Amino acid sequence: CFATQSTHFPELITGDPYNNVSESIAAKVGVNLHCQPNHPLNIIKSKIVSYFDQLHAQGQPKMQVFDNLSPVTTTENCFDQLLIAKDHVSRKATDTYYLNPTTLLRTHTSCHQVPMLSKGIKNFLVAGDVYRRDEIDASHYPVFHQMEGVRFFPELDATLPYEERVEIVKEHLKATLEGMVESIFGKVEMRWVEAYFPFTEPSLELEIFFEGEWLEVLGCGVTRREIAENANVINEVGWAFGLGLERLSMVLFDIPDIRLFWSQDPRFLTQFQDGVITKFKPYSKYPPCYKDVSFWLSKDFHENNLYEIVRDIAGDMVEKVEIVDAFVHPKTNRESKCFRITYRHHDRNLTNEEVDAIQLVVRESLVANLGIELR
Ligand code: PHE
Repeated sequence: CFATQSTHFPELITGDPYNNVSESIAAKVGVNLHCQPNHPLNIIKSKIVSYFDQLHAQGQPKMQVFDNLSPVTTTENCFDQLLIAKDHVSRKATDTYYLNPTTLLRTHTSCHQVPMLSKGIKNFLVAGDVYRRDEIDASHYPVFHQMEGVRFFPELDATLPYEERVEIVKEHLKATLEGMVESIFGKVEMRWVEAYFPFTEPSLELEIFFEGEWLEVLGCGVTRREIAENANVINEVGWAFGLGLERLSMVLFDIPDIRLFWSQDPRFLTQFQDGVITKFKPYSKYPPCYKDVSFWLSKDFHENNLYEIVRDIAGDMVEKVEIVDAFVHPKTNRESKCFRITYRHHDRNLTNEEVDAIQLVVRESLVANLGIELR
């Protein structure tokens, strides 16, 4: 697959009333950071692929790698086929980018599970960009990258009770993923935590002990029987896992801020080299500039819409948006919130005048788009 500097996917902005893909998001589609040579996301992706190649060399089936699948998917592939409930939050337009009511930017690489299985591809890895409307801070960005793995076991004795085969597959999954984490991090303390995903049963999360804290690194489980059967994989048991490449890279390379992955600054990019794990050396940051905006909420106000507007206007100049004050007027019952926006440019100093100009556009846009009333 190929990384590109910047792309423009006008077809993502459809004019459909349900369409909520912004320009700044559309510009990320096709960038494919996970394919950029010497990029931390590519380095960690390759490490995972090598681990599975090594297992293949030891007699396990080959995991076919797909890292260039389109992030444009359907509600069918992304949610319905994975048994995600109709009212699940991840389906909401406040959380997900839709082209129209049935077409969206994938929220997880699990959307490829059923289409792959339906094609008879049962052992595979998928790496790709995923999209979630979210808050803005050092560990959240509306585009990040996931790696998915799926493995089925047609070789298991089909006369064994289904539950027994599930147990065998679950143990295989745990051993495989512990090995994977060890191949990435070396010897680390790990623990398994019970979890819930609509598409696996049982479901588990793997945590590692890192700098004094337990950190969740992946979700996984045994694929639910109905899902396999809907993909025409009958009476076979298999596992699936999904992990966030940024999350792992931040830990592995000591990268303190998720936005750095998007940096084109040579001070960032020249620090990394294919096949090598080095610790990131922070370079001096330019100073931040803070601006507050207070307003009375509108009826269906949702924070994510505000974050989106701020990001669309200020782009990567916005470092963080946080609520600094909230109250309800005792007489009118109206609700007020104050948000603090931290502006900071990665590559130069911002002037107060330039930030004031952006802040003015933000304020006007909040009024025009969210129907709020500035205070
Ligand atoms: N898709 C899940 C997520 O994004 C991760 C997952 C993948 C869990 C496969 C189980 C199996 O959180």
